[in-house]
Amino acid sequence: MFAVQQEETALPPQIRAMNWRTDRAAVLAFQKEVYETNFPGFRMTVSFLRDYEAQLRQALRSQMERILVLEDEEGVCGLIWLSLITTMVEPLVGYIKNIYVAPRRRGEGWARALLEEADRWFQQNGCPKAALDATISNERAVQTYLRAGYVPARYRMEKHYGSTNQIAGA
Ligand SMILES: CC(C)(COP(=O)(O)OP(=O)(O)OC[C@H]1O[C@@H](n2cnc3c(N)ncnc32)[C@H](O)[C@@H]1OP(=O)(O)O)[C@@H](O)C(=O)NCCC(=O)NCCS
Repeated sequence: MFAVQQEETALPPQIRAMNWRTDRAAVLAFQKEVYETNFPGFRMTVSFLRDYEAQLRQALRSQMERILVLEDEEGVCGLIWLSLITTMVEPLVGYIKNIYVAPRRRGEGWARALLEEADRWFQQNGCPKAALDATISNERAVQTYLRAGYVPARYRMEKHYGSTNQIAGA
């Protein structure tokens, strides 16, 4: 008897619209890393996750928002959350609210692919530009955005006072 050798062919990851029922748990699980990376000192809480879940659900029902996930054979492994917003001076801007690629898929160009999907959707919807907020210490994310054509437009500047117990003049 000869054993039939079956060639293992891993399907490439796919980008598709988020499904609330099947993808919610994975998308929520990503948020601990997203927020702890971008807001040093942040600690995930049940109430934060509950609020986030409610926002996700609302976004999935809105024409002004779009959430895509990346899926490979092991499951959902990435996310991009897009929103059409107005600013004080611009009637329509494509805003990236969240992007995530699971560690097992990083460095393969999936963030770039998700950002290209964002470009397509924003342009289809008439946006003259896209925007996002990034944390300077998150070098990998900043590099990703620079490579995708984003440039810094505003700086958020901070000044640290040291001990918060010391009140000036006291
Ligand atoms: C930021 C993040 C989305 C990047 O995902 P990724 O799939 O690894 O990124 P890509 O493979 O598409 O790489 C895009 C660019 O990032 C840069 N990059 C990739 N790997 C890198 C690394 N190890 N170190 C530094 N930069 C790197 C490169 O410039 C690359 O461009 P190139 O392909 O022309 O070389 C991912 O690291 C992540 O999910 N981080 C945690 C969540 C997070 O911080 N999200 C951002 C919220 S603002």
